[in-house]
Amino acid sequence: EKGGYPHFMIKEINEQPRALRDILTGRIAPDFSGVDLQEVSLTAEQIKNIRKIAVVACGTAYHAGIVGKYVMEKMLRIPVEVDIASEFRYRNPLIDAHTLTVIISQSGETADTLAALKEAKARGSRVVAITNVVGSSIAREAHDVVYTWAGPEIAVASTKAYITQLLGIYLLTLFLGKELGRIPAGEMTDILHHLYQLPKQAQDILDHLNEQLNKMAEIFNQWEDTFFVGRGLDYAVALEGSLKLKEISYVHAEAYAAGELKHGTLALIVKDVPVLALCTQPDVFEKTVSNIKEIKAREAHVIGVAFEGNKEIGKSVDEVIYIPETLPLLAPVLTVIPLQMLAYYASVHRGCDVDQPRNLAKSVTVE
Ligand code: M6R
Repeated sequence: EKGGYPHFMIKEINEQPRALRDILTGRIAPDFSGVDLQEVSLTAEQIKNIRKIAVVACGTAYHAGIVGKYVMEKMLRIPVEVDIASEFRYRNPLIDAHTLTVIISQSGETADTLAALKEAKARGSRVVAITNVVGSSIAREAHDVVYTWAGPEIAVASTKAYITQLLGIYLLTLFLGKELGRIPAGEMTDILHHLYQLPKQAQDILDHLNEQLNKMAEIFNQWEDTFFVGRGLDYAVALEGSLKLKEISYVHAEAYAAGELKHGTLALIVKDVPVLALCTQPDVFEKTVSNIKEIKAREAHVIGVAFEGNKEIGKSVDEVIYIPETLPLLAPVLTVIPLQMLAYYASVHRGCDVDQPRNLAKSVTVE
């Protein structure tokens, strides 16, 4: 049932190119002029009335939601707030008929996320769910559903579900952006062409980085602490990379917005401590590099993650993980893959139970 792989997690990591292909199938217009989301029945009138988007989820799905905030605010110029479901439901949220609520959940059964959905509905908000499980409670309760078609995810650590949640966010954003007339035709086509390349590029990462990442993960045999830093979308992915490592290898990992380090965390950066520095966003690249210099001044071991062809990064870090180049907007889909693989190999090297980490359940149906 593991298809020849030793664990479900690595099987599911390797299924990601297929999962990306499946979520895109039939959804990109043949002439690359827009996306087809027939399952979303929001009318043009309802879309024009959206004043705020509230994204609500837990864990990995919440991290996908943070990517969603950056993406939707940039493309739609509508304010987006992202909440952890167990916070949202108890904070008397400012949600009304002018709010579009986007609920993200792999299982569609997470108790807090389901309760948050009901709370949003009760306040008159329209709800779109991005979920993987057809007929799940969240799919049934939402007004509209964007299915992620990742297939069953068995490993507790979410991988292919996350990556397809990101695709769900891009598709929904492009759909709304077209209705609102906020995305110029040329930009739409360019984004769609790049989305279309992602499955192949994800496959390239799996084919070419496996050995390097397996070896690199040995560093976590010696270290119980590590840091993930980045700015913008890279920060959103840093959060997910650090959760993955904590969850399955029990290495303590902190994710920080790179500019925030010197407000406290820099005190923890010591000689040789591993730091993953994500550097895919050109508009903040120079700023991140100056943060990396602050980290290097404390003699940490810095591993950069950047697009192929980025020669600059090599001058500032100890090692680089190169990923195929895509639009900065779409980078999270590719950046997360090496981080998932690092976490996987760290877990294997440390002799942990990869698929069933201690204290955790696949679906959290209790509050
Ligand atoms: O099924 P859901 O997407 O609602 O689950 C949410 C979280 O419990 C889940 O993403 C969790 O954080 C994963 N185990 C992380 O890998």
